[in-house]
Formats: sequence, C-alpha cells, structure tokens
Amino acid sequence: MQANIRNFSIIAHIDHGKSTLADRIIQECGSVADRDMSAQMMDTMDIEKERGITIKAQSVRLDYVKDGQHYVLNLIDTPGHVDFSYEVSRSLASSEGALLIVDSTQGVEAQTIANVYIAMDNDLELLPVVNKIDLPSADPDRVLEEVEEAIGLDCTYHNLISAKTGLGVRELIDSIVDRVPCPKGDEEAPTKALIYDSWFDNYLGALALVRVYDGSIKKGQMLRMMNTKVEHSVLNLMYPHPLKRQNTNEIKTGEIGIVVLGLKTLDGIAVGDTMTDAKNPTAEIIDGFEPAKPFVFAGIYPIETDKFEDLREALTKLQLNDSSISFEPESSAALGSGFRAGFLGMLHMEVIKERLEREFNLDLIATAPTVIYEIEKTNGEMIVIRNPSELPEPSQVKTIFEPYVKATILVPDEFLGNVIKLLNDKRGIQNKMDYIGARVLLDYDLPMNEIVMDFYDKLKSTTKGYASFDYEPIGFRPGVLQKLDIKVAGEVVDALSIIVPENKALSKGREFIKALKELIPRQLFEVAIQASIGSNIIARETVKSTGKNVTAKCYGGDITRKRKLLEKQKAGKKRMKAIGKVNVPQEAFMAVLKI
Ligand code: GTP
Repeated sequence: MQANIRNFSIIAHIDHGKSTLADRIIQECGSVADRDMSAQMMDTMDIEKERGITIKAQSVRLDYVKDGQHYVLNLIDTPGHVDFSYEVSRSLASSEGALLIVDSTQGVEAQTIANVYIAMDNDLELLPVVNKIDLPSADPDRVLEEVEEAIGLDCTYHNLISAKTGLGVRELIDSIVDRVPCPKGDEEAPTKALIYDSWFDNYLGALALVRVYDGSIKKGQMLRMMNTKVEHSVLNLMYPHPLKRQNTNEIKTGEIGIVVLGLKTLDGIAVGDTMTDAKNPTAEIIDGFEPAKPFVFAGIYPIETDKFEDLREALTKLQLNDSSISFEPESSAALGSGFRAGFLGMLHMEVIKERLEREFNLDLIATAPTVIYEIEKTNGEMIVIRNPSELPEPSQVKTIFEPYVKATILVPDEFLGNVIKLLNDKRGIQNKMDYIGARVLLDYDLPMNEIVMDFYDKLKSTTKGYASFDYEPIGFRPGVLQKLDIKVAGEVVDALSIIVPENKALSKGREFIKALKELIPRQLFEVAIQASIGSNIIARETVKSTGKNVTAKCYGGDITRKRKLLEKQKAGKKRMKAIGKVNVPQEAFMAVLKI
C-alpha cells in the first residue's frame, strides 16, 4: 500500500555524516544484526571505503513499525561529490522527501546549498537534521539559523542527532514516517518507472535500480526503455539491500527495486531513462533525461607499449560498469599508442585510473586533464577538440569556445579578499555576493578549465580549508586563448601541450618549464626544455648532465648494494616514459596542474 511507503534521500555536504547516518538507520530498523554491521555499509566499492566517499548511489529497503503500523522505508543514498551531480539529481527525483544533514560543528556549505536547489526543483519535503551534536564544539542553534538564512527553510521543526552514537535517530525515523509524504502513483496506469542507477554485476549482468511511479513491474513482463528504445523481458526482481537482497515477483507503485534484464552491457539501461510496458506504454516520458556527458578528458597510455590491447580490454570492462566513461584510441608522438578517455570530473578520473592499475595490473601514464573546446574555423566549420594538440594552426582558427560553470562558494568573511583575488585571477565573473552570518556566499561564472587545473587546491590553501565549493556546467563561451607547446631536447612533446589565455601564455610558459626542469631527472647529457607559441620560443631552461654512470660509485665490492640500487632505478623507471633519449617521469605530465 502506497500510504505505508516512504521514499527519502539524504543530502549533505561531504563529511557531514550522510553514510554514518545511513548505517545507523539501517541498524535501527533491525534489518542487519549488530555483528554484521561494518562501518559505512552503503559504500560498497573498495575505493569508496578507502577514501571515505560515496561514488555510486546505493539504496536500501527497510521495514519499520511505528504505533503498531508497518512501514516500508526506502532510503536512497546519493553520491556526495560534484562529479556525480547528475546521479544526485536522479536519486532525488526518486524520493518524496530528503533529510538535509548539516554538521553542527561546521554549518551550511556550498554542497548543502547546491543539493537543496536540486531537492527544491523536485518538490521534496526537506527535513532539517543537525548532526554530530555529541561533539563539544556543536552549535546547533547557530547552524539552524544559517539553514533558515541561507536556504530560506523553516526550521521550527527539526531533528538534532548524533549519527555516531545513535542519539535522536529513532525520533528522526519517526519524523520521516510523519512528515515525508507517501507516493501517490496511479496503480491502474501503464508501467512508468525511472532508472535512477544502473551497474554491472558479474553474475546477474546489467542491473537497473528503479523507482516505479505508475503501475508495476512484474517478472516476465516485456519492458521498453523509452529513450534508448531497448526492449527486454524481466528475468528477476529484487529489493535492494547492502547485505541481503530479497527476491520479489512484483515491484509495485511507489516502490523502488532492482530489475534484472540479463543484458550484457549497460548501454540499454541509461540512468535517467523511463521504463515502461512494451505493449502498453505510458504516454509521458519522465523528463530531464541526459545521457552521461564526460567533461574532462585525458590521455591514458600504457608504460609498456605492448600493453595497449590489455588497456583496451580493461577500459571496455570498466565501461560495462560505468557507462559515463568514454574512450577512443589516440596516438601521441611522445607516448605512443593509448586512449583519450572522458570522465565526469577530476575525482572520477582519479578513481578510474586507480581501478585500471589495481584491478587490471597495468602501469599507466596519464596526461594532464583538459576540457573540451569548440573551435570555429575561418572556413566556417565547427569542430570539437578533446586534446590541445588537435588545435588547428592559428591562421585557421576564428574563435575558440570553452566550457563555463556556475560556481557556488561559501567562505568565512576573513578570507573573502583572498578568494575574490583568486577568482579574478581565474577569469571568474561575479553574479552575486550575499552575507550569511559571518560567511559570504559567492555566485560566479568560471571557465571550467581553471577548475580542472588547480582551482580547488588553491581555494583550500588560501582559506585554510574553510571554503567550500560546488559547480554546475552552463555551456560554452568564446575565450581569447592560444596553444602553448613544450619541447624537450628539441622535440615538441604533444602530450604536454596546453591551451592558455593569451595574456598569460608567457608567465604560464615560464612557470611550466621551471616545474619540468625540477621533475626531469638529470641524464648523461644536457637537456633543453623550451616553451613555444607557434614557432616562437618564449622561454628556455636546461637540465644539466650528470656526466657519470650512477652505479659507478658502488665500486665492484658490494654486490647486494649494487643490485638494490639497480632495482631501485628499475622501479623508478617504470613510471618513466622515454621521449627520444630522455626519460620523462609521470609527474612531469601532471606538472601543468601545479603552476
Ligand atoms: P561522504 O560519503 O564522503 O559524502 O561523507 P558523509 O557525509 O557520508 O560522511 P561520513 O558518514 O563518512 O562521516 C564523516 C566523518 O564524520 C566520519 O569520520 C564519521 O565517523 C564522522 N561522524 C559522522 N557522524 C558523526 C557524529 O554524529 N558524531 C561524531 N562525533 N562524528 C560523526
């Protein structure tokens, strides 16, 4: 019965305690014995556990009894990081309510605000929840005031909890039952369900996590995905749970569940698509569907050239799990054969690179990430480039368009000057500035490329870690940009080319080669490093020669020492790529991020 179902999400800034609270709610509903409870149950991927972040949205169906009435609580966990904001929006669209968790020792942050906007777009009932009240520095009154001020949310009714100790969690679950509206779908209408997550299971194949709005999904039913047009019959249905999924014959109106279709890839079941009955389809598609769009691109190359096919196989396998990765073969004069891969953002890229290395045992070189540029050529043609080295000759380029984001930044007043200076330096354009207590909420348009470079690190360091930041893409705008090339020992290293604002080309070029000089180890000969724009050399540095063989100092005698030194050198070399005669370490390809 829909009247007894509550679908809710938890939204919070990173580290405000979302996963800890999810664990506590699961425990409080008694669906996991205490001895099976491991910290952060909802974060199932190894990398999630190690980094303490939520990457894939997870959901769980729980049973709860209040005043003798049985309720089904569907807790829909959302990923916290900006890279995964599309998943956040789909998860929220599957709920009727959301717990807005704010850390009582910290207060409202940029991500809290960004997620609240998405929740409001979806007309969700928001329950303000102040967490970590067990800590001595907790200041719940101030935090509630901030929520009212920054978000305009009435906090008369709120919950104070400690997700860690469990204090106030039972009362919070009662509030969910009382205050989150129940689903109100049409049980007689044709099947209409939203795919809000999908992933690949080695045993079951592609799985879709869905929220059923109207009608129901039954075992054996022939379904159609309305955007991708794929049709398939339902092999099995399950209710989600981190430890014990339960099989069911039907996912009813208002419920969430896992649909097993026996598909071998995720292609057909894109997040955001509408599932309906193939013979009796619903009239309306659930709107807001967007195919996964990579924003950040980087070259990924095997260190050993004969591992190219292994890398292709590994990327293909990962793509089954994560349809937001894209890749195509690319060859670099410097790095040989590899792939240009697209990611949702920087964190996503790091996670994928780590998984390729760990799960597939590959040694990789990744080039510095870049955004996509749209180029209007002088002959009127429009092209899209994913690699700076693809930029046509200046004489053929009329305008370069670069992607922009709307950035939301929250910063204590005392650091405001620093942050505004940084934003100006990063070509930011101010839209709005509001005071919230002793902090300032900034709304800026910013070139996405500046964020890909090092914006976040700089923001953290100029504000002693007190600023928070979130962003969303807002489209392309023309920029006054040009390509900067780097030559090592006289050869252009295509993998080091970058696109920079024209008025910063000189200073960037100088800094870049200075950084490279520190990173490229001394060789047996002198190595020139040059920065150039077109055919003009704008800066030059030299790596002096060592002039001697390093093992020479172990004059014969100590064989073990000599071997150790050679092994150490070998290990060091693994992360190097020979460019001409020069060994260039992985760090050099990322050096541009640090200038
Ligand atoms: P992401 O999944 O990365 O978005 O973070 P999160 O919001 O899920 O935060 P998480 O649950 O990982 O908690 C962050 C840290 O705060 C962890 O070290 C928790 O142990 C701690 N924490 C969470 N809730 C409480 C609380 O009520 N009291 C105290 N003292 N610590 C808490």
